[in-house]
Amino acid sequence: MTIQTRAAAIVLGMLALGFPLAAGAYPGGTPNFQTDAAPYCAGCHSSRQEFAFSGAAPGMAAKQLVENKHLAVIRAGKGGYGDLTAEQREELVGHIQALDAASTVQLNVIPKAKPGEVITVTVDVTGGAGPVVGIALVDRPHRALARPIAGSGWQVVGEPTVLGQDFKEQTEWLHLRPADAMRNLSFVNVKGIRSDAAAGEWGRAQVVWKLRAPTTPGTYPLVASYWYGSEKASPLGIIDDPILGKMLRGGFAGGSGRILFSDVIGVKVR
Ligand code: HEC
Repeated sequence: MTIQTRAAAIVLGMLALGFPLAAGAYPGGTPNFQTDAAPYCAGCHSSRQEFAFSGAAPGMAAKQLVENKHLAVIRAGKGGYGDLTAEQREELVGHIQALDAASTVQLNVIPKAKPGEVITVTVDVTGGAGPVVGIALVDRPHRALARPIAGSGWQVVGEPTVLGQDFKEQTEWLHLRPADAMRNLSFVNVKGIRSDAAAGEWGRAQVVWKLRAPTTPGTYPLVASYWYGSEKASPLGIIDDPILGKMLRGGFAGGSGRILFSDVIGVKVR
């Protein structure tokens, strides 16, 4: 295939998948969708946690795990990975494994509240290839069942505070949502993230939410969901296309995206 026909094939592939080229791309996060998201939206992403598919059809979890959905495809030299030598493919796998090991998500909250009380929830993430990561509060660590946190009775109070890699507050993404539509979202994009697996440098971000507790006493689980990419953290994970610019080696529909859940914290409301 010539470079031009390959570029055309990539463009057609992206259009066939229903993706606008400049707007709303998923590698790159959701620049133009300012609303609550849940992990089910990210069917292409792979998982590092088998429990994220508990109760799913037999074989489903295995298919979605990083090792099978992403690393095995690289090792086999399928698609864009076929342009790399076996040594380069192993190097890319090594970079991705280092990025995954450095990518974490942690939710911090004091696990008790009075009915209707406003509490503070802090989510810290590390790693993520960048340039964007996605972070949300959900009600269970499950790829098919997790709901935005409002589904279980919590109400997000006001705008979440988003701190990027430079630990400066950022409002650009959130403010694309008109103020009169209310900006109390449970999902955000964090921009300006950069990890470099070859240099061992990793991204980080923090989001702080205020939540009003449900009015009915009980124990309510809080979980953070973390969407991140992996390939752009490696020079081998990017194809510098003369026409389209920087492209993912695994392609738009490849398994290089991730969904990672934090530990579950049960908050006692009484
Ligand atoms: C067509 C497949 C596909 C779907 C569907 C998809 N993603 Fe992704 N997404 C990807 C790929 C591939 C990457 C990995 C980029 C990389 O490896 O660097 C990614 C990465 C991301 C990133 C990190 C940004 C980046 O460039 O690294 C975020 C945030 C994200 N996706 C959010 C979402 C959300 C939210 C949804 C659902 C609304 C979603 N994705 C659905 C393919 C998809």
